[in-house]
Amino acid sequence: MAVQTVASATDSTVDLGPAAALSCRECGHRVPLGPVFACEECFGPLEIAYDFSAYDTEELRKQIEAGPANIWRYAPLLPVPADVATKPNINPGWTKLVRADNLARELGVTGGLYVKDDSGNPTHSFKDRVVAQAVEAARAFGYTTLSCSSTGNLAGAVGAAAARAGFRSCVFIPHDLEQGKIVMAAIYGGELVGIEGNYDDVNRFCSELIGDPAGEGWGFVNVNLRPYYAEGSKTLAYEICEQLGWRIPDQLVIPIASGSQLTKIDKGLQELIKLGLVEDKPYKIFGAQAEGCSPVSVAYKEGHDVVRPQKPNTIAKSLAIGNPADGPYVLDIARRTGGAVEDVTDEQVVDAIKLLARTEGIFAETAGGVTVGVTKKLIENGLIDPAKSVVVLNTGDGLKTLDAVAGTGLTATIRPNLESFREAGLA
Ligand SMILES: Cc1ncc(COP(=O)(O)O)c(C=O)c1O
Ligand SMILES: [Zn+2]
Repeated sequence: MAVQTVASATDSTVDLGPAAALSCRECGHRVPLGPVFACEECFGPLEIAYDFSAYDTEELRKQIEAGPANIWRYAPLLPVPADVATKPNINPGWTKLVRADNLARELGVTGGLYVKDDSGNPTHSFKDRVVAQAVEAARAFGYTTLSCSSTGNLAGAVGAAAARAGFRSCVFIPHDLEQGKIVMAAIYGGELVGIEGNYDDVNRFCSELIGDPAGEGWGFVNVNLRPYYAEGSKTLAYEICEQLGWRIPDQLVIPIASGSQLTKIDKGLQELIKLGLVEDKPYKIFGAQAEGCSPVSVAYKEGHDVVRPQKPNTIAKSLAIGNPADGPYVLDIARRTGGAVEDVTDEQVVDAIKLLARTEGIFAETAGGVTVGVTKKLIENGLIDPAKSVVVLNTGDGLKTLDAVAGTGLTATIRPNLESFREAGLA
């Protein structure tokens, strides 16, 4: 398989496998690979353009199937060198696709219901996938400090990946996140800074820092490395299809914070179709938000193309981005595929976390409560067809958001004898 070597915007020579250039999502303007994220012509977001022309479908399929049980099995489709699996990386991915028959019965789904359970990643969220890409880009561009603005999970993923890769990390979060997220982000020994404000304030601060000498030479995974970082979410699409026997599911329910993950899952599905790895068939993409931070859902329901920012107020803090960068692209995808964007209340999020745990033995974080809750609502609304297959994403681990289910605890406290056990009505 041909590996391309391309000159970066910083004039160094980088090897990022099949990645050929950066291309503007708005005007198509192309620039060489480099640590840049906005188009010099129109300020539109840049994304990776590939050269997959040398690939033979069946050879590629065989190579993927023989690859490691992590995201690097898809290295030929990612902006990483072919020998990426040999580098110190946290190697996320190849998480379980759980056939959720018990939940299907409760929700009345007959066409096959699956939970893609990304709580099984090294730092217990899907963010390990995107950070793993950013680390490789940082290595290629010569950065030794990694940074990010985060709603919590990303901070932990960056801390862990930086520790393993031998980089410094300094990450920024809203100061009032859940204890589980704070500890998970701090434990890896990097610097963790709480900002007095919400995620959108944190993000604004990072944009300032990036233009200041204090942030010079830093790789911000979701700012100047964003085009590379974002590609990590494609691996969710690849894995789901491969785990279904190289088939695209009929319907996918995906959480939205910035909207990056949802747009890249769609990109991944389109690539698999173009490469001939899956049959070209229709699929519907559904976006899921919490009512207390539902800018994309509101825009969808009101028929708008632009997303009006909100001030978040929800227990689903990992999804609490009031001004989502990829919001308009999410709207396009939901409409193009015949999907929708929906939201649920915090109470419905908690009910859905408990429903998933009770039926399938999966303890999701609030983001998983959002997707399961939205799936239930969309089935009730008739927008999801229960006779067709559905894949619901659980992108994080419930142990990080224990407060959301506070009050869930002991059935009884008894003395250590049978009499006490009987008295408690448990016999
Ligand atoms: C657990 C979890 N799920 C989903 C998302 C959504 O990610 P995106 O910003 O790509 O929409 C996040 C983002 O922080 C997250 O932490
Ligand atoms: Zn442009």
